[in-house]
Amino acid sequence: MNLPPTLSQFLIKELTSHPERDGLVAIMSDLATIGKIISNHTNRAGLAGILGAANKTNVQDEQVQKLDEFCNDLCKNYLRQTGNFAAMASEEEDGVVDMGEDGKDAKYVIAFDPLDGSANIDVNLSVGTIFSVNKLLPELARNDERQFFQPGRDQVLAGYVLYSASTMIVFSWGNGVYEFTLDQGLGEFFLSREKMMIPDVCKIYSFNEGNFKYLSGRDQKFIEYLRNELKCDCRYVSAMVADIHRNLIKGGVFILGATDKKGMGEFKPKLRLNYEAKPMAYLAEQAGGASTDGEVSLLDIAGESLHQRVPVFIGNKDIIDHYLKIN
Ligand code: AHG
Ligand code: MN
Ligand code: MN
Repeated sequence: MNLPPTLSQFLIKELTSHPERDGLVAIMSDLATIGKIISNHTNRAGLAGILGAANKTNVQDEQVQKLDEFCNDLCKNYLRQTGNFAAMASEEEDGVVDMGEDGKDAKYVIAFDPLDGSANIDVNLSVGTIFSVNKLLPELARNDERQFFQPGRDQVLAGYVLYSASTMIVFSWGNGVYEFTLDQGLGEFFLSREKMMIPDVCKIYSFNEGNFKYLSGRDQKFIEYLRNELKCDCRYVSAMVADIHRNLIKGGVFILGATDKKGMGEFKPKLRLNYEAKPMAYLAEQAGGASTDGEVSLLDIAGESLHQRVPVFIGNKDIIDHYLKIN
């Protein structure tokens, strides 16, 4: 029987040809375990709600926890015990999570969005987990938040887990994008796509059309170009992991521009730079795509606060280039 390699086989092979990646190989293996646990949990999310509604405990007599919280605690506690991280940042944590003694020999820091698209959980649609790994900067204190203000280009590992009809882990450490699909029965990830490249033609734009009226004139012109000139289809899951995953495979652009919802001329972005924009932009650029906040590549922005928000445009390179020329 001709089976594709499992993630473990792939990682062992990587280690043989790139022994210097030993830390990242261990990290990938731990992130895959987290992906399996969250996958298992999200599959039971509806059930946990039903069982939990009666007496606030689930079938195993545990407190029913909000899934964002569950995923955050899992990432935090599981990754802490691996000893691979000197510090962590998470959408669900106000400040840097200090690893203390557990991270005293660690060489990396990690930022994550434990559950992306969490509003989709209530309606049984796709969600994800996003991760961004950087080298520890030795000149700064280990838990200094500036550890996370490195340009996206300096990430040494970025990726996501997509929990959908199948669970997939997609990642890059700088030599292309790899996708592994989980066989739920075996509990193994198998290689499903390697060296993923975004197709040449942008067929899709992913944008919350309800926000069109709140966009800047420039962003509106861009959407009109995609609709009327390129005649793209509009597809929007409202979980950037799922929307960008589809676009990487089919060709498309994901747009979450700044909006002025109060009509006061104040345009506010929604997505967070350090654990949403940087890792997703890194994957897109590794797949031959491009990204921008409207001015520069998202990978050239270092950032100056942990939960800083940025406008996000990620997709086919020629389309991002076209957008940058609009004024
Ligand atoms: P999160 O659940 O981590 O807060 O992220 C939700 C984000 C993102 O994944 C998604 O693309 C976007 O919010 C959707 O926003 P709108 O529904 O406002 O379009
Ligand atoms: Mn998110
Ligand atoms: Mn989230």
